[in-house]
Amino acid sequence: MSLLEIHNLTKHFGGVKAVDGVSFAVDTGEIIGLIGPNGAGKTTCFNLISGLLPPTGGEVSLAGESLGTLAPYYRARRGLARTFQNIQLFSGMTVLENVLTGCHQRQEVGGFRALWPGTKVRRAEAHAEAQARELLELVGLAEKADFAADALAYGEQRRLEIARALAQEPQLLMLDEPAAGLNSRETEDLMTLLTQLRERGITLLIIEHDMTLIMGLCHRVVVLDHGQVIAVGPPGEIRRDPRVIEAYLGRED
Ligand SMILES: Nc1ncnc2c1ncn2[C@@H]1O[C@H](COP(=O)(O)OP(=O)(O)OP(=O)(O)O)[C@@H](O)[C@H]1O
Ligand SMILES: [Mg+2]
Repeated sequence: MSLLEIHNLTKHFGGVKAVDGVSFAVDTGEIIGLIGPNGAGKTTCFNLISGLLPPTGGEVSLAGESLGTLAPYYRARRGLARTFQNIQLFSGMTVLENVLTGCHQRQEVGGFRALWPGTKVRRAEAHAEAQARELLELVGLAEKADFAADALAYGEQRRLEIARALAQEPQLLMLDEPAAGLNSRETEDLMTLLTQLRERGITLLIIEHDMTLIMGLCHRVVVLDHGQVIAVGPPGEIRRDPRVIEAYLGRED
């Protein structure tokens, strides 16, 4: 069964059809690339899938259940996590604290009970911290756990954002241009990390302009242009598809 199913998803901003009848599915364990020229509607698709924007029409289902109008927080609890094209970290917090904000979504002893921290709360907190430190280790930031998040280099901030998303224990992780601004060495490290995540059973949906990453990692690629899917297939086929080449090179000639 597909993990994520998108059916006829549509988003209009006034006269702009940012997403225009998009349908595709992502199977459990797949790494899917979502590519297309600037303004094709990729980020808007992510905003619709994660519930940040209400769609004009269409439907998103996760593990066979329609997400309807569910708010982002509840989608996260069902196993959807994402990162942002423009990194969104809590700049006043440390690296570790940023990851913990992801863990807290899973903690069921917050709120009222946390005002009188008993054994259960303390145990949950210790568990969350151990989990956060393990994730920092995974993304190569263990030594910087106590640094201020905004003191990190750009590439490190990208990895921190991934660690925070992983703290939600997602089934599906959606990454919006994770390699943007990274040098080729950092991109290679990122590809290694993403391969490890897949080996841990996480399904990945990746928006990316870096074709080395897309071609090197993805099982299938979905290509958007002007809000519509113009091609779906394995990377080798996509690279030779005349419609895809035309979308990237422009139509003037
Ligand atoms: N909140 C908004 N209000 C109005 N128009 C929007 C809004 N968000 C996106 N758009 C428009 O929708 C279209 C798709 O934008 P989107 O950001 O989804 O593209 P993208 O494929 O992610 O592009 P890029 O590769 O540059 O990130 C663009 O024409 C954009 O200007
Ligand atoms: Mg975008």
